[in-house]
Amino acid sequence: MKVTVVGAGNVGATVANVLATKDFCSEVVLVDIKEGFPQGKAMDIMQTAHMLNFDTTVTGVTALPGDENGYAPTANSDVVVVTSGMPRKPGMTREQLVGVNAKIVKSVVDQALKFSPNAYFIIISNPMDTMTYLTLKDTKLPRNRILGQGGMLDSSRFRYFLSKALNAAGYPATPTDVDGMVIGGHNDKTMVPLVSIATWRGVPVTQLLSKEALDDVVAQTKVGGATLTGLLGTSAWYAPGAAAAAMVEAIALDAKKLIPCCVYLEGEYGESDLCVGVPVVLGANGLEKIVEIELTGEEKEKFEASVAAARETNSKLAEALK
Ligand code: LAC
Repeated sequence: MKVTVVGAGNVGATVANVLATKDFCSEVVLVDIKEGFPQGKAMDIMQTAHMLNFDTTVTGVTALPGDENGYAPTANSDVVVVTSGMPRKPGMTREQLVGVNAKIVKSVVDQALKFSPNAYFIIISNPMDTMTYLTLKDTKLPRNRILGQGGMLDSSRFRYFLSKALNAAGYPATPTDVDGMVIGGHNDKTMVPLVSIATWRGVPVTQLLSKEALDDVVAQTKVGGATLTGLLGTSAWYAPGAAAAAMVEAIALDAKKLIPCCVYLEGEYGESDLCVGVPVVLGANGLEKIVEIELTGEEKEKFEASVAAARETNSKLAEALK
């Protein structure tokens, strides 16, 4: 499999780094507008090949916006991961980036699609739900090929915070022991961690943790990205990068994994004409199925609020693209 990762910043380089170690990936092309930077990141990653024992080829390419042939080295990629644009700074919401990132994402997607007409697109740039919607509308590709990365990351953060709360309550859970899913938009205020179906090795966490502890886990999960932005001075990268790589893996291996992804809804969950996080079976055809799980009344209300927030950000797209 050949994968193009656009944006050689922290997140993009992490995606490339994780993919390099995977047997299914023969080639990773890391693209950036900077000269030297993607080449340097690629060379640094390649110099881990001997220690990490991989045969993937990682190359770095500089391509400027509007450069007709800048993306030629990415030709015939199976998957294109888009991380381009500004990350948020402490105190910023993801939604505030719509004005800066919409044009960048549109230009990158257009350039990449020209050389990889059959690629699947995984969008990470923020505000991710709106950037995924933009990609779908701009490319007019079928919805199975446009996937936003948010739910995988948020679910992983949810599992981490659940494992910490379980430990504090006397249950020695690790994040891999815990199952949990976050749906809705990738938004500090409105994402929906599904407490009702979260388990520790099959045991519902609602049997093990107090309402107070669970509320705290939910609150920490929702601001998971903002907490790291505050600590790091910029947006996080290890988990966002690994999350996108996990999505590429599910496509590459036709794994048919149930992963919450941001996809275009056509009536599922009672919604249409927007992209938002829902449980998706991810396989060789990208989005293979949207699984409609039963939500509690409260979760349903929260999901609807999350949808409304995503629509609100989508409504700023036309202005942002002017
Ligand atoms: C985060 C960014 C990548 O949540 O959206 O860390």
